[in-house]
Amino acid sequence: MNRNAYIGIFDSGAGGLTVAKHLMEWLPDENILFFGDTAHLPYGTKSEKQIKEFAVNDVAFLNTFELKSLVIACNTADSVARETLLREFDMPIYGVIDPASKKAAEVTENKKIGIMATTATVRSLAYRKAIHRIDKDIEVYQLACPLLVPLVENRRYRKDDTVVRLILSEYLEQLTANGIDTLVLGCTHYPLLYDAIHDLVPDLKIVSSSEEAAKALVRSLKASDLLSDEPGSIRRFYVSDDAEAFRKNADIFLGKDITGEVIQVAV
Ligand code: DGL
Repeated sequence: MNRNAYIGIFDSGAGGLTVAKHLMEWLPDENILFFGDTAHLPYGTKSEKQIKEFAVNDVAFLNTFELKSLVIACNTADSVARETLLREFDMPIYGVIDPASKKAAEVTENKKIGIMATTATVRSLAYRKAIHRIDKDIEVYQLACPLLVPLVENRRYRKDDTVVRLILSEYLEQLTANGIDTLVLGCTHYPLLYDAIHDLVPDLKIVSSSEEAAKALVRSLKASDLLSDEPGSIRRFYVSDDAEAFRKNADIFLGKDITGEVIQVAV
């Protein structure tokens, strides 16, 4: 395995950049290849069949480069298409659901966990299954939050935004009614809403699937002695539609502008 090969990351859109952001901060010498399937965003409202097809095409594109690992930086694709990807591609594949579930099971004290996610992720029951593999006694309350991805993609995420607060309050009330002490942000778009959510429910422990996925990859690359040994890094960004819009929007997810080009490809 070439330790200086790319870490391939994909999502339906810009949300997966919240995983890339952590990796770029923690492992500045890693070469990163990002693909956002913006032509098909959002995945969360699509059928299982469609999501699987999209995910296979996304990875087939990334696989035209030399990869040392692949991150499914999309809870929706991880929950629906993970098995398919493991079957179709022979490479180390990392997801978001398992690391986030592990962390949530670790931090909950009352064994009641809430999951905010897309409709497709909730329908798959992937979080419930993953958490129950760790501890069957944990109660898992899932809630589909279909309004959040469009909000964030439209740069509406700030905690003083009235619309953001109104929508989040409605979602959070349904989850907190179950007495949860831990909340999983089960979509890689949601870390942008962290401040707004924390402001509304300050007592909840909040687990970010993006952060936990990035931590799990770092741990694994270190353990398998696969960290890059070349100083500096190459970072490439590809999308399936409207490269310019993606480049303009990337700053809020990445915490900074994409300096290089964003290239549109057909997948
Ligand atoms: N960011 C993705 C996720 O983690 C998907 C959002 C969407 O395309 O619906 O679920």
